[in-house]
Amino acid sequence: MTLHLENRLLKRTKLGNLRTLKITQPMIDFSSNDYLGLARSPQLATSVFQEWQMHLSHLNGLGSTGSRLLTGNTLYAQELEEKIAKLHGYEAGLLFSCGYMANVGLLTAITNQESITFYDAAVHASTHDGIRLSRAKAFPFRHNDLEHLENRLKSCPSQGDRFICIESIYSTDGSMAQLPEISQLAREYEAHLIVDEAHAVGACGPKGRGLVAEHNLTAHVFAQVTTFGKALGTYGAIVLGNHTLKQALINFATSYIYTTTLPFQTLAAIKCSYDLFPEMDQERDHLQKLIQIFRASYPSFSMSHIQSVPIEGNEAVKHAAQAIVKQGFDVRPLMSPTVQRGHEVLRVCLHAFNTDDELAQLIHHIQFHGSHCYA
Ligand SMILES: Cc1ncc(COP(=O)(O)O)c(C=O)c1O
Repeated sequence: MTLHLENRLLKRTKLGNLRTLKITQPMIDFSSNDYLGLARSPQLATSVFQEWQMHLSHLNGLGSTGSRLLTGNTLYAQELEEKIAKLHGYEAGLLFSCGYMANVGLLTAITNQESITFYDAAVHASTHDGIRLSRAKAFPFRHNDLEHLENRLKSCPSQGDRFICIESIYSTDGSMAQLPEISQLAREYEAHLIVDEAHAVGACGPKGRGLVAEHNLTAHVFAQVTTFGKALGTYGAIVLGNHTLKQALINFATSYIYTTTLPFQTLAAIKCSYDLFPEMDQERDHLQKLIQIFRASYPSFSMSHIQSVPIEGNEAVKHAAQAIVKQGFDVRPLMSPTVQRGHEVLRVCLHAFNTDDELAQLIHHIQFHGSHCYA
């Protein structure tokens, strides 16, 4: 081990935020991204198994054998992209191995030295990394602060293309972007809008198609990133947009070009999830009901299925989470540096399979153990 690494790890240990791997014990799940319960759904598992049996003989076997640009491409993958793009109302889509690689690939492929990227300060690490790897200039705007975004757009002219990166639902606190207003600003100031719908698709919008669809803004979105490892219960991601964007990604997105593509088993799971989730209105209605129950105790909290309860300080939030876990409820602390120091939170994810009673119990435990919470 180098001295530098030892020192960094020691510093983390002292700050109480050393990351370690743990096996998740069976508990009442208020933590995973499996918002609709599809990852645990026997119905999805059965239909995926049938899909494998139906198609496996036509395919290469278990491995995808290479990049899509070499031996990894299949008619199955192409048809799946068309099916997903059609459902979301876009011209085209390109599958990526995961959302992280989709954001990195997208942002590095579409920008050059003359481009400017404006991004909400709360975007996911994958967008930050994509911005860092791209050669574009980049300016953050304060989270959900439209005035700040407009000032940035006004004061940063560019010879090249301008992009605005946001999430429809932010992963750390569940806050929602003001999509119609941001889309309006993008049009006014000639910027291309990129929306990461990782936490929205499946869980909200008409037939679970997300918040861009709910606001009828598909035509004004340059690129939408949709991931399959959250409400869809599987794995992978797609970038949706027009044919030119797809062609650009195939040619310039290195996280797409230089990697082994998703294997058939995963593509089949994505396809089966897309057959199922649009029909899960009942589950989405129950999710909405749970959100209302949570907000009855915490009216100022988010309107989405992701809630975050402020408990300042890594030690305090860690102890509150541990005490609640001891009661059998899986909740996780979000500590610095994942969130800004002083903005530590207990993250609570609501799921279609959580009962009203489980949530009432959880709220009781949060109120009891999170003494710094506010309503
Ligand atoms: C907003 C957002 N975008 C992208 C990702 C990355 O997606 P994936 O887990 O498929 O790599 C995540 C994952 O946590 C996310 O929260």
